[in-house]
Amino acid sequence: TGELSGGCPYQASKARSLLGRQNKDWWPEALPVDMLHQNGVSPDPLGSDFDYAEAFNALDYTALKNDLTALMTDSKPWWPADYGHYGPFMIRMAWHAAGTYRVTDGRGGANSGQQRFEPLNSWPDNGNLDKARRLLWPIKQKYGKNISWADLFILAGNVAIESMGGPVFGFAGGRRDVFQSEGDTFWGTEELWVDQGAETRITEEATDLEGPLAAIQMGLIYVNPEGPGGNPDPLQSARDMRATFSRMAMNSEETVALTAGGHAFGKAHGAKPSERFGKNPASESVHLQGLGWLTDEEDIGKGHITTSGIEGSWSNNPTRWTGDYFRLLFKYDYELVESPAGAKQWQPVNPDPEDMAPDARDPSKRVPTMMTTADMALKMDPEFRAISERFRDDQAALDDAFARAWFKLTHRDMGPKIRYIGPEVPEETLIWQDPVPEGREASSAEVERFTKAILGAGLTIGQLVKTAWASASTYRRSDHRGGANGARIRLDPQVNWEVNEPGELKTVLAKIDELRGELSMADAIVLAGSAAVEKAARDAGFNVTVPFSGGRGDATQEWTDVDSFKWMEPQADAFRNYLKTRQPVRTEEMLLDRAALLGLSAPEMTALVGGLRVLGANHGDRPEGVLTDRKGQLTNDFFVNLLDNDTFWELVDSSSDEEFIGFTRAGKTPKWKATRTDLIFGSNSQLRATAEVYAEKGNEELFVQHFIKAWVKVMNADRFDLLPARKVS
Ligand code: HEM
Repeated sequence: TGELSGGCPYQASKARSLLGRQNKDWWPEALPVDMLHQNGVSPDPLGSDFDYAEAFNALDYTALKNDLTALMTDSKPWWPADYGHYGPFMIRMAWHAAGTYRVTDGRGGANSGQQRFEPLNSWPDNGNLDKARRLLWPIKQKYGKNISWADLFILAGNVAIESMGGPVFGFAGGRRDVFQSEGDTFWGTEELWVDQGAETRITEEATDLEGPLAAIQMGLIYVNPEGPGGNPDPLQSARDMRATFSRMAMNSEETVALTAGGHAFGKAHGAKPSERFGKNPASESVHLQGLGWLTDEEDIGKGHITTSGIEGSWSNNPTRWTGDYFRLLFKYDYELVESPAGAKQWQPVNPDPEDMAPDARDPSKRVPTMMTTADMALKMDPEFRAISERFRDDQAALDDAFARAWFKLTHRDMGPKIRYIGPEVPEETLIWQDPVPEGREASSAEVERFTKAILGAGLTIGQLVKTAWASASTYRRSDHRGGANGARIRLDPQVNWEVNEPGELKTVLAKIDELRGELSMADAIVLAGSAAVEKAARDAGFNVTVPFSGGRGDATQEWTDVDSFKWMEPQADAFRNYLKTRQPVRTEEMLLDRAALLGLSAPEMTALVGGLRVLGANHGDRPEGVLTDRKGQLTNDFFVNLLDNDTFWELVDSSSDEEFIGFTRAGKTPKWKATRTDLIFGSNSQLRATAEVYAEKGNEELFVQHFIKAWVKVMNADRFDLLPARKVS
């Protein structure tokens, strides 16, 4: 299944822009604060020197947890706690912070505190979570820079579970806040939110969710609680749950454990038709100070709140961790009813009085419990039902499954364990953390010996560069997965990805393995590529060195989560001029997307593409973009020849806009071949401006230096162990 396409073959009619609908489309009136952050100016008030790991380690963690525990039952009149306990509300906030994660591109998730910013701050499914975050503010203020919002959201969820007697597996800090909306995430193209009639993304005809999306309708975090498109069909809801939760890298057992475990707590809010409630935070007047979904005081006092529109709790004990959710789900038949707000939901038929729930504001009153259509899926879908029955009969199994799945949900996007900090980091290593055994620093003698051997082994510069690139360039800063450490390039599934040219790759890897001596494969692959770059630069007349940092370890197949690595297969890698299948976005947008995931700037991306082309790193050694007569030397020829006024370009054939031929103006002789991702560096004004710098006389060596710097950045992108003082990137 594809990185962007979800496996769908390209259809011109389905073409879309890379980023879909953005904040400025939803809220055109919003103050464009980001105009202040141009030309490298950062919006981060803490500055780039701020070391969050150090600040977190200086935190009085126990005091913070005690304050959070006290907060849970410290009900505030401006937004009183249902049942006198904010725990369930905090769990929903943490779940929605983490639940935007999608394994396809690793974006979304809890790791940078994005719930504070549009669009998520005003996301329909995040209704009233603005109040949950505001309730946390006095604690955030007290502990200041020692705890990020991003960490606090998740820790508040953990403390909430613990304070209601629920099981947790651990907590890791290390989520450094950002101070602006992440502008590189595709949330969808629809012009309507879910509550305005946005189309549902999975239908009987189109059963695959478009990649990289993980929610079923625009404005949801996952599925529609009332059922697909509002249709209360539990079986179809199960289909949607499978699709969305698998995009969060959750299997069926984890899906059931999480949903049932979460709904052991709290209630849904649908006391009044939603017209009675205010606009989302981003659309509200300044005097509301960033809060939205305004509810009048009298309704708040009576607990007449509307969030989802569904009304009621799932359990008769909504602030205790019990097995009542499954007990009630299976004990009763449920009938379809409408909430006071008009939402479709399910109510037990003739519940015993002791199975009724307390009223959220008045414990002396008893009210019926309910299930959403998605909860009913846990009973009606045969696969989910088998899991649910097991959990109903084995509370310890549910405890363990919920605790582990919650930990995974909330830590999935933090990358390897080395990025975890704090006193509650679990000892146990989990496969989804992509573990890599610790490496060993290579001696300079070993480096020298191997460099000599591999350069004399009869492999081309292109082969060595390509292999190192293939190994390192899987890194994505969105969820800190991938990268050269572990040498997973030699394991399934990566070793067989088409982009990696499996046949040739295995030959190169075998040679590296034969010559590496005591070096780890991961180090040897990078070193071979870097040695080739250095040789190519020297052959072009530049006396430079390519810095190498050893210390990578080799992962095992057993500790590689093949299913979740499958999502990471590149459908395009413009750095190797590779396109597997045409995507719903233009190929140069795929380049930009990949560069963004690698954390590259436009000059770094430009230098890398231009350099990799002349080194001969193209997929299948294809000729497109190799704008040089001395392939294998690190020169700025790509830029010089691309920007040559004496060349003009034409499409190879009019049925595709991917491939082009460059002709000499005089005599119209075909001279070069190129793809869209080559020509974009001459056609896009911003990239052209950068390409010009690299093509200019006097900048030949500057280009080589920039290429090497960007190369090393990619090779070391996952070397969290090299960061000074374990700084959290
Ligand atoms: C509340 C749906 C999964 C935890 C809610 C509400 C809905 C909902 C409609 C009511 C919101 C409101 O009106 O206030 C769903 C659906 C799910 C799902 C359709 C998946 C198919 C989860 C998961 C968790 C969770 C995975 C956590 C592990 C909660 C909690 C509340 C809640 C604690 C109560 C919040 C409160 O009392 O204010 N959910 N949910 N849910 N959900 Fe879920």
